[in-house]
Amino acid sequence: MTRGSLTKFILHLHPRLVPEASAKVRFTWCLGGIALWMFLLETATGVLLMLHYIPSATGAYGSVQHITHVVSYGFLLRNIHYWCGQVMVALVVLHMARVVVTGSYAPPRSLNWLIGTSLLMFTLLVDFTGYLLVWDDRALWAWTIARNLAETFPMIGPLSASLLFGAGDVGDSILVRLYAWHVLFLPGIMIVVMGWHFWRVRADGGISVPL
Ligand code: HEM
Repeated sequence: MTRGSLTKFILHLHPRLVPEASAKVRFTWCLGGIALWMFLLETATGVLLMLHYIPSATGAYGSVQHITHVVSYGFLLRNIHYWCGQVMVALVVLHMARVVVTGSYAPPRSLNWLIGTSLLMFTLLVDFTGYLLVWDDRALWAWTIARNLAETFPMIGPLSASLLFGAGDVGDSILVRLYAWHVLFLPGIMIVVMGWHFWRVRADGGISVPL
């Protein structure tokens, strides 16, 4: 990348002008920004957890117990990963509520509102697939319910259920499927959609001002 385009990229990330009213913490509460920080923390702790997790029906639960009780600082790492995930869900919902309360969903920001709703869906999905990866009793039944529910969706039900939650009986292939969604596809899609979301904030004239 040339020096010129790097400067343009940085200037694009950091707008030269921010309306004073929308720069006040009391307007946005920085909820979207803190949600992004949670995502980054999830990525960092998730990569470390990957070093010990085994994505198979027979190995998953044991490897999570190993992380919690044997691996140095594994207990801490797992708890940070778990709690940041829950906090991220709460932050995204609160961020959405802030956008509603300040009327920031209205044109020209309607497209970014729609992009945001997809981010909410992906955040819930990545949280849910993570919950399933522990593969204890709760995860097994949550997986069963989610798969049966997805199957009832008109037309695309059976296909989407097997794409998301795996086909056939409980086995290793299901854990590999859930693992791939949790650590690769969903975060990958989210990085692209978040980039689009932030770019739209700029393209729509920056953060809205109080009504
Ligand atoms: C992973 C989830 C999300 C992240 C990381 C995120 C991040 C951000 C950030 C950093 C901003 C700049 C202003 C602020 O911090 O409030 C923003 C603005 C915005 N977000 Fe999100 N967001 C997410 C999800 C959502 C959701 C679920 C919605 C609504 C359905 C949404 C709708 C909007 C809209 C309309 C704006 C422009 C608001 C304005 O100009 O005042 N976002 N988002």
